[in-house]
Formats: sequence, C-alpha cells, structure tokens
Amino acid sequence: MMEASNAIGRQPGFFVTFEGGEGSGKTTQISRLAAYLRSQGESVCQTREPGGTPAADVLRDIILSGRVKELGVETEALLFAAARRDHIEGVILPALSRQEVVLCDRFHDSTRVYQGSKAGLEASTLSVIEAATLDGVLPDMTVILDIPAVKGLERAALRRGQEKADRFESEGIELHEQRRAAFLAIAAREPHRCMVVDATRDMNSIEAEIRAIVLERLARKRRGSTAGGPV
Ligand SMILES: Nc1ncnc2c1ncn2[C@@H]1O[C@H](COP(=O)(O)OP(=O)(O)O)[C@@H](O)[C@H]1O
Ligand SMILES: [Mg+2]
Repeated sequence: MMEASNAIGRQPGFFVTFEGGEGSGKTTQISRLAAYLRSQGESVCQTREPGGTPAADVLRDIILSGRVKELGVETEALLFAAARRDHIEGVILPALSRQEVVLCDRFHDSTRVYQGSKAGLEASTLSVIEAATLDGVLPDMTVILDIPAVKGLERAALRRGQEKADRFESEGIELHEQRRAAFLAIAAREPHRCMVVDATRDMNSIEAEIRAIVLERLARKRRGSTAGGPV
C-alpha cells in the first residue's frame, strides 16, 4: 500500500477511520474526539459505514439484516463496495475538500476483516474490489480499538438491551477473535497508518491517547502541506 502518495495526501482535510470489533468503543470514542475537535474550532464530519448517505443507509439495512448472507460473500462485498463508493463521493471527499476532519466509524479495513481471508473472499478479489471502490481515497490514519471478543460482545449486548443482535454481532466468539487478530495483522502490516489502542481501559484514558496521536498527526500533515507550498 502506497501510504504517502494516496489521493488524500493531496486533499486539505484529514481523514481518520476507526476500526475494531463490536463493542470496542468506536462510536463512543468518535463522539468524544469530534466534540473535542469542534471545541478547538475544527470542522468535523462524523460519519459511519456501512451507510453515511441515504442510498448507503438503505444498503446498510439490507446488509445488516442478514438477507444477503445467502447470496454469498462476493455479493455482500460488492454491496459494501457500492455503499462505500456512494459514501466517499457524497460525504467524505466533499468534507475533505472543505478542509474538515472526517471521522469515520469503520471503513475499508472492516471489509478486509469481515469479508476477507477466513470469511471466504479471496485476497486477490478483495484487493481488486477495494482498489476500484476507494480509487485512492485512503485514510490518513486509522485507530484500531483492540479488545478481547468476549468483552466487546458483552458491552455490545449491554448497549443493545432487548434488541436483536445484527448479522455480525450474532456470530460465534471464535469468529470474532479471528477478526480481532485480522485487525491486528493489518496494523502490523501498515504501522504508519494504524495505531492500536488497548480498548479494555476506561473511556477517559482511551480518549486521551487517541486525542494526543490524532492531534500530532493532524499537525504534522498541516505542516507538511504548508511546507510544500499551496495545495
Ligand atoms: N472503555 C469503555 N469501558 C466500558 N464501557 C465502554 C467503553 N467504551 C464504550 N463502552 C460502552 O460499551 C458499549 C459499546 O460501545 P460503542 O462505542 O457503541 O462500541 P462500538 O461502536 O465499537 O460497537 C456502549 O454501551 C459504551 O457506552
Ligand atoms: Mg458503533
């Protein structure tokens, strides 16, 4: 992956994705970071996948309902891709060109983890779909919230209350542990993009760690873009 030369490297905004298993704290931490950044005068676009646009939200409902599971992992991956493409064009790129900080709850790493390897989609198929979908729009950085699957699912169940578990939450613990390992493997392969955060700790400690690193990376990107002349 050519991290330094992606299309977002030339955009004035800053694109951060949050990844990790169910109940790892992605939504919690995105909200906290967004509130902090806004308090500092940043324009923040807070969004999530699958979904983020009206069309992508329809696809989200279909995907999470489990109705496409029987159609196979390729079709599911293509539906995610369609939703992501619409989200990139309709929300992410416009926000980045307005110089906003985009905080996205799940992005391409989730597809790699949930549809790739053990889930059955060939790595080569996955990378073809990914390249066509992203068309160079890659995150500046990715926060991976790491938590043992059992603990994350406990949290997710508490949050859900009486509501039914969705297509992914209802799967077995072993599969969730494999996904955890797959997220960590991505982080190991792309250490410059990914930061792994121990998500078992209290919310405030996690928030402080994420904030410090995001601010540092954001400042670095802005220094880089001014040092290089007009962007
Ligand atoms: N560090 C934490 N410690 C304890 N509970 C947490 C922590 N972070 C989040 N939670 C709680 O766990 C549940 C799942 O968190 P959430 O942010 O929705 O996770 P995700 O979006 O990754 O599925 C929520 O009820 C949330 O309040
Ligand atoms: Mg969430």
